[in-house]
Amino acid sequence: MSSEAITSEDMVEVDYDDLIPNNVDLASDRALKRAMEKWQPKYIDWWKDMGPNGFQESQVYLRTAVGVDKDGWAKFGYVKMPEYRWGILLAPEVEGRTIPFGKHKGEPAWQEIPGEYRSLLRRLIVIQGDTEPASVEQQRYLGKTCPSLYDLRNLFQVNVEEGRHLWAMVHLLQKYFGRDGREEAEALLERRSGDADRPRMLGAFNEETPDWLSFFMFTYFTDRDGKMQLESLAQSGFDPLSRATRFMLMEEAFHMFVGETGVGRIIDKTCQVMNEHGITDPNDVDAVRAHGAIDLPLLQRKANFHMSVTRDLFGAEVSTNAATYFNAGLKGRFNESKLEDDHQLENETYSVTRFQDGAFVDEDVPALNAINCRLLDDYMKDCQGGINRWNKIISKAGIDFELSQPHKAFNRRVGEFSEINASPDGDVLGDADWNARETEWLPEPEDLQYLKDIMKPVTEPGKFASWIAAPRVGVDSKEGDFEYVQLQ
Ligand SMILES: [Fe+2]
Ligand SMILES: [Fe+2]
Repeated sequence: MSSEAITSEDMVEVDYDDLIPNNVDLASDRALKRAMEKWQPKYIDWWKDMGPNGFQESQVYLRTAVGVDKDGWAKFGYVKMPEYRWGILLAPEVEGRTIPFGKHKGEPAWQEIPGEYRSLLRRLIVIQGDTEPASVEQQRYLGKTCPSLYDLRNLFQVNVEEGRHLWAMVHLLQKYFGRDGREEAEALLERRSGDADRPRMLGAFNEETPDWLSFFMFTYFTDRDGKMQLESLAQSGFDPLSRATRFMLMEEAFHMFVGETGVGRIIDKTCQVMNEHGITDPNDVDAVRAHGAIDLPLLQRKANFHMSVTRDLFGAEVSTNAATYFNAGLKGRFNESKLEDDHQLENETYSVTRFQDGAFVDEDVPALNAINCRLLDDYMKDCQGGINRWNKIISKAGIDFELSQPHKAFNRRVGEFSEINASPDGDVLGDADWNARETEWLPEPEDLQYLKDIMKPVTEPGKFASWIAAPRVGVDSKEGDFEYVQLQ
């Protein structure tokens, strides 16, 4: 990075002399430094234990954040993952920032924790923090069946960045919450995805990620929940949380890119196979599978699963907890500053779809209580862009098939619709009907077995598995046969 590139006073250099790269002046904060240095070896133990299985010695062509400005945050080079420089990076401080919403709206943003909100904030940070290592754990065996070295490298990039997101939350816990913060930081390394006794905190983060289609669906749909949560926390009146999450969002964008292009390349390959072999009916599943590609109906069923499970992460649509967080100025709404209302919502309402007396009704509820519903609605809109682009790939190939989002009530375990069975079209079914038809809408055991069967590792540079097309461009503009991972 040339010194001319650093033009603004908000550029803060990372302290590379420290064990822990950071732009929070860790060297002069001895208590924090000691706490982080004590936690760091435990983190590395966790990474070696629960991180990518079988690749700890491989050289991986990874992006490392060495600063928060646009030139500094993406330095590429080979590194062994346990030696990755995980660090603490906050987005630049916004001078004179005020709390943008809630009952403290307009007051200066907090640089320290307000005593009355200590436990609420700790809960928010711990829940966010818990999702980060959880996804690394869920994805730890995927490397063994990578469809290419390009994809393997992208998986590992996502994994190390989720690790860094854990660091970001642990930094806040260690810096601002004293002893109980330190205990929470340890507990974040002790829970395990899918563990019966000490599971991760949220449902979707205890599901398996058994195959690469699941990984791409997860990074498109579930990392997008991460985006929505981070966007809400980026509004927080607690400024260090706002700054931490704003920087995390830059990394999150890559995770969703991996998901969108991953699914897009699968669709691309499926369409190629169909056209090459004269398969005109997308529902002629056997014909598509005979060529080792993934049929479009299966993609829809997988998407249905990931969408419905991820929607549950938003919590109950109508929630007094969410109202409390908003009112207190701790967690805002998506695009809070662009919304045209009083940002306090004392007298506003929001239309929530509910199931009452056997029918879906739209009911105006106090907007403060509908914060989760609104975020879920925003999320569903945000999901649509990639789905439209996937559909374009299909229609361009001349194939008559369209992917879509299921009804909001489909397959829900949390919130307004947790007690009913709704089809993707929004028809409400009795248990017997649901059980009889579930496999039309959600992956069935044969689907999952088929996916398992085609997950054969491809590790020759520039080569790809039978079910996925090559990417249009390489990482860091590398050539198609670049060796993104040097296996050991
Ligand atoms: Fe993350
Ligand atoms: Fe992510």
